[in-house]
Amino acid sequence: MKVRSYPVRSRYGLIWLFPGDPSRADGTAMPEIPELEGPARWACVPIVFTWRAHHSIIVDNVSDFTHAHLHRRYRPFVDAKLARCEMVGDKVELGYDVVVGDGRFSKFFVDRGRVRTDRMELAFEYPYQWSNTGDRIKHWCFFLPIDERTTRAFFLFYFDALKVPFTPFRIPRAVMTPFLKAANRFLIKPLLSQDGVAVEAEQEAYEISGGAPAIEFNPAVTLFQKLIVRRWEEHLNSQTAQRHTADEAQGVA
Ligand SMILES: [Fe+2]
Repeated sequence: MKVRSYPVRSRYGLIWLFPGDPSRADGTAMPEIPELEGPARWACVPIVFTWRAHHSIIVDNVSDFTHAHLHRRYRPFVDAKLARCEMVGDKVELGYDVVVGDGRFSKFFVDRGRVRTDRMELAFEYPYQWSNTGDRIKHWCFFLPIDERTTRAFFLFYFDALKVPFTPFRIPRAVMTPFLKAANRFLIKPLLSQDGVAVEAEQEAYEISGGAPAIEFNPAVTLFQKLIVRRWEEHLNSQTAQRHTADEAQGVA
């Protein structure tokens, strides 16, 4: 009996597994999140979902603000206009002019005196995704593909511009973790569960349609898909090159 083992690291409250060639694990960079390191780190309570959807469908969803209507009850982003969208190496960067955090309850906690909430930058930094509002409200999303149509998604939200409602005072650091646990339970988890319903429906529609490409309204989504396809082709080419090298070595022997 033998169970395959993988190199792992522990960081940001998660255990990271390296599924590729183990000899490359040490030299492969992990995402750096300086706000979540050191004694003055921001509070963060990860949220984890397992959804019946391919990871690319989740990446498309979390970066495509044309789905604002889905969240009309929570209003995390409204009136979004795509202002910038470009592929830079293995990263698709985009920016929206948008109203951030305008929910019935959430708007009382956002400290608009300290953070610009009319612009959000996002990126699909292969294979991860992140957003940044005014350097004060941020998130990362990490993916663990379980099979072709099942993905575990890890959301890390962290904030430095939350205030006590109806006062100018910041929420004290000491109570941020219990505050985030409550916010996750009553606001962020229910909000993301709406995305879960959407991505699972999209996966189902993809399978029923026999894999026909969907019509995309957001050019960012087209770039995400191009990047994923390019990375997959690069992987296949490197495997073919490795096989040729092995065949040649055998031929010489
Ligand atoms: Fe969403």
